Amino acid sequence: MPMIETINLTKRYNDLVALNALNLTINEGDCFGFIGPNGAGKTTTIKILATLLKPSSGQAQINGLTVGYQNRQIRPLIGYVPDFMGAYQDMVVHEYLEFFAAAYNINGAQRKKVVADVLELTELTYKQTAEVSSLSRGMQQRLSIARVLLHDPKVLLMDEPASGLDPRARIEIRELLKELKRMGKTILISSHILHELAELCNTVGIIEKGQLLFSGSVNDILKKAKVGHVIHVAVAERMEAATQVLTQMPGVSKAEVVMGDGTAGQTDQLIHVAYDEAAGGVYTDIPNVLINNGFRITHFQEEPVNLETAFMRLTKGLVQ
Ligand SMILES: Nc1ncnc2c1ncn2[C@@H]1O[C@H](COP(=O)(O)OP(=O)(O)O)[C@@H](O)[C@H]1O
Ligand SMILES: [Mg+2]
Repeated sequence: MPMIETINLTKRYNDLVALNALNLTINEGDCFGFIGPNGAGKTTTIKILATLLKPSSGQAQINGLTVGYQNRQIRPLIGYVPDFMGAYQDMVVHEYLEFFAAAYNINGAQRKKVVADVLELTELTYKQTAEVSSLSRGMQQRLSIARVLLHDPKVLLMDEPASGLDPRARIEIRELLKELKRMGKTILISSHILHELAELCNTVGIIEKGQLLFSGSVNDILKKAKVGHVIHVAVAERMEAATQVLTQMPGVSKAEVVMGDGTAGQTDQLIHVAYDEAAGGVYTDIPNVLINNGFRITHFQEEPVNLETAFMRLTKGLVQ
C-alpha cells in the first residue's frame, strides 16, 4: 500500500479548477519532489493531504486512510510544514515547542525529552531561550520543522520549505531533510525549482495548471524531455577533422564545433558531442577513437545534465 495516494483528486474554487484528476503514488520512505510554477496547485494538494481542505471530487489517502473521512486517524501520522509560519512569535523557542507538544498530549518528562530531541535534530538547542521573533528566517523554518517532528510522524508534508532562504539556510534545510530521509520518513516536498529537489528526492512529479505532467525518477524526466547527454571535447589541432570522425561514431547523434567559454585552455573552441546513452559505450570510446586517429585531446568533460531545460520542455506552452 502506498503511504500517500491521490486518485483523480480534483479541487475547484468556484469556476477555477485548481486540481484536475491528480493521481499521485508515493511509497513509504520515498522523498517525493513536487514541482511546479506558482499557481500550479501544489499548496492545494498539500493542504488536502494535511486534512485542512476537502477535495471537490476524487480521493486522497494517507497510509490507506481517506482524507475527509478518517482525518482523526490521519493527523497523528502527518507533519505539515505550511508555506508561512504564522503566529506565536512572542514565545521563547522551547516554550513554543512545549506548547505544541502539549497540544499533542505529550506530557511530563517525555515532553522535555522530545523537545530536547527535536531541538538537537534541527540544531536549535543553542537558541532554546531566544524569542521566536528574533530568529532568522532559516532558523524559523527549522523551528517549523522541529514543531512537526514532536509527535514523530511517518509522513512529512512540506510546502516550499526553502523558499525565501539564503543559500546557506537552504543548504541547512537540505541537510536536515536528508537526515529525516535517513530516519525513514516519507517526505513530500514542494518547490518551483527543479534542481533544488533533484539531489534530495528519489522521485519527482511535475504539476502545471492542476495537472500532473510527469512523475517518476529524475533520470526518467531527462529521458522523457529528450535531454540528451553531451560531452565537450577539444583537440590540439584539426578540430573540424576531429568533428568529422566523431560524427561517424555509432551512438553519436550530433557533433559540432562551438565557441568555448575559456575552460578548454588554449583553444576557445569546443566540440559538443551529443550521444544517446542507450547506445552504450560512447562516453568511454570517444578518447580512444580520437587517439587512434592521431588527435591529441586537450579537453574532455561531460556537460552537467540540464534539469532546467528538461523542466522547460516538459512544461512548454503551459508556463506563462
Ligand atoms: N482559496 C482560494 N480561492 C480561490 N482560488 C484559489 C484559492 N487558493 C488557491 N487558489 C487558486 O488555485 C490555483 C492553485 O493554487 P495553489 O495550490 O496555491 O498553487 P501553488 O501552491 O502551486 O502556487 C491558483 O490558480 C490559485 O490562484
Ligand atoms: Mg504554494
